Amino acid sequence: MTDAQPHIDALLQEERVFPPPSSFAEGAVVSDPAIYERAAEDPEAFWAEQAGRLEWNRPWDAVMEWRPPFVKWFVGGTLNASVNCLDRHVAAGGGDKVAYHWEGEPGDTRTITYRELLEEVCRLANGLRSLGVRKGDRVNIYLGMVPELPIAMLACARIGAPHSVVFGGFSADSLRDRINDAEAKVLITADGAWRRGQVVPLKANADEAVAECPSIEHVITLRRCENEHAFTPGRDVWYHDLVADQSTECVPAEMDAEDILYLLYTSGTTGKPKGITHTTGGYLTQVAATHRMIFDIKDDDVFWCAADCGWVTGHSYIVYGPLTNHTTGVMYEGAPDWPDKDRWWSIVETYRATILYTAPTAIRAFMRWGTEFPGKHDLSSIRLLGSVGEPINPEAWVWYWKVIGGERAPVVDTWWQTETGAILITPLPGITDLKPGSATVPFPGIQADIVDEQGDSVPLGGGGYLVLTRPWPAISRTIWGDTDRYVETYLSKFGPEVYVAGDGAKRDGDGYFWLLGRIDDVMNVAGHRLSTFEIESALVDDEKVAEAAVVSRPDDLVGEAIVAFVTLKSGYEGDDAMAADLREHVATKIGKIARPHGIIFTADLPKTRSGKIMRRLLRDVAHGRELGDVTTLANAEVVEQIREMSESAPAEE
Ligand code: WTA
Repeated sequence: MTDAQPHIDALLQEERVFPPPSSFAEGAVVSDPAIYERAAEDPEAFWAEQAGRLEWNRPWDAVMEWRPPFVKWFVGGTLNASVNCLDRHVAAGGGDKVAYHWEGEPGDTRTITYRELLEEVCRLANGLRSLGVRKGDRVNIYLGMVPELPIAMLACARIGAPHSVVFGGFSADSLRDRINDAEAKVLITADGAWRRGQVVPLKANADEAVAECPSIEHVITLRRCENEHAFTPGRDVWYHDLVADQSTECVPAEMDAEDILYLLYTSGTTGKPKGITHTTGGYLTQVAATHRMIFDIKDDDVFWCAADCGWVTGHSYIVYGPLTNHTTGVMYEGAPDWPDKDRWWSIVETYRATILYTAPTAIRAFMRWGTEFPGKHDLSSIRLLGSVGEPINPEAWVWYWKVIGGERAPVVDTWWQTETGAILITPLPGITDLKPGSATVPFPGIQADIVDEQGDSVPLGGGGYLVLTRPWPAISRTIWGDTDRYVETYLSKFGPEVYVAGDGAKRDGDGYFWLLGRIDDVMNVAGHRLSTFEIESALVDDEKVAEAAVVSRPDDLVGEAIVAFVTLKSGYEGDDAMAADLREHVATKIGKIARPHGIIFTADLPKTRSGKIMRRLLRDVAHGRELGDVTTLANAEVVEQIREMSESAPAEE
């Protein structure tokens, strides 16, 4: 590759365009495209207008104070996040509205109104105060998807104690490292959580972790599964005992806009997990604004973000965004295939969910299981669909739109990161023409660009590094305890004013952004920089393929040879003829340059617990290397199977 070439050769052409249905556009929350120009002309005024929708104790003195690489938003303003999520809606007469329709995996249900949620939050907040938790102290939360998870987050927010939620699927070691990094004083957990009919022993894991966590003074345990576990007198407290006699009123802490609302650890591909911090004022402003405009939130919507609160998606779009907007949400505790593969669709039907927000990995699983499962249920309540977490393959996008959305619901593909706090690149469903596989354009007030290795903007049509060239209110302010690492990771490659997301992307002739995956996943084949994602999408485009992951291995001839790991839909056989067929399919879709050299058929692909494919491990397999760290893997056993398969793989070209 020479320097004059764009950084990534973007070859996959997707031509389909879906304009907003007129019925949708007419009543949309945002229906005037002028919002983009207005926000671009004066981004600070745009964000101030959004912040003005919140309830502040004290107004801000300055909207933004930018001293690169650092920024502050709504300087001098004070507010409380739990008041914005709860009290003000109850005070305005909205206490009887349902905050969450919750369904447990075994089939038990709870309906929680805004008033009940406020009372529960106050009781736990008082309980935390009674244990000595003060403003600024960190509280760790390690729970399944039960109502007490958002309750615990909001109780912390109420008293100004930053929470650090650790996904309930993580091990004792992961929990221990995250507690120790945050030096949390209290841990809130449960006896267990339900997953595929089994009990995940949360308290036993917590006990193992806390044995090596000197900062923890108390462990609060919620009773959920009634499973056996140890109890350490003095340190351990039952959740129900703690809240039993507490008042349902609790004076909220007045927080500075820049005070930390929470920490959330994200593992990146290498190194120890990073404690990403988010603020109170800027974060809340942007999650509320993006939630309302992107998901077109109306008063009678039933919004289901099917993520786990252990990820940023749950923080921003199950808890803080929807509650700030007084929205009714759905929460489900368990697995999508329990007791059968139609569980989600039965939930949509039961609660008449109008908006569903999920990840491509889930959509691909549903595609693989087949249309008979959604077909068993009435999904006519759905009017809008969302996707997040990975680039969505055009075939998966179209399947989602057709089978789940009945060809009437727009699909918003939303690009963002734990670090960005809120959605940055996305359609606005009432005005944006959709292209399957593209996250479309930056949200109003967001300035994004694509640059080459030198940091120069790449003209439309080309690919390179995705960067953000102006700060936004929800940007993470630092990595907990390691500001140097924060600056080095995100704000140094192209200078302190340019945020580097670490993703590759291209822009088409209309200025639409097409995300191409992590920049580390880019390959160099015969002098062309190719995105693994485009080749994967070409494979998934073949009707026989359920899922694909593409990596490279060194090759004397072409530099890097393309190796594809492919999972077929049920009923197909992965043999030499199939491999040849798929290679040809990619050559036709993208070009001969992208034709995989080797295809390895596998029953499953290694994934992180949030569902992202771990290409790093597949690269190790393709290179015949020792495997790297597998501790953050959701399905570690699959790697060994893949290694065995690859040793007896069909002939390569
Ligand atoms: C990827 C999740 C393409 C991307 C909110 C990003 C996406 C990383 C999309 C952040 C999307 C997320 N299209 N890629 N719509 N959304 N990603 O921190 O690589 O879990 O950098 O935050 O997911 O993942 P995280």
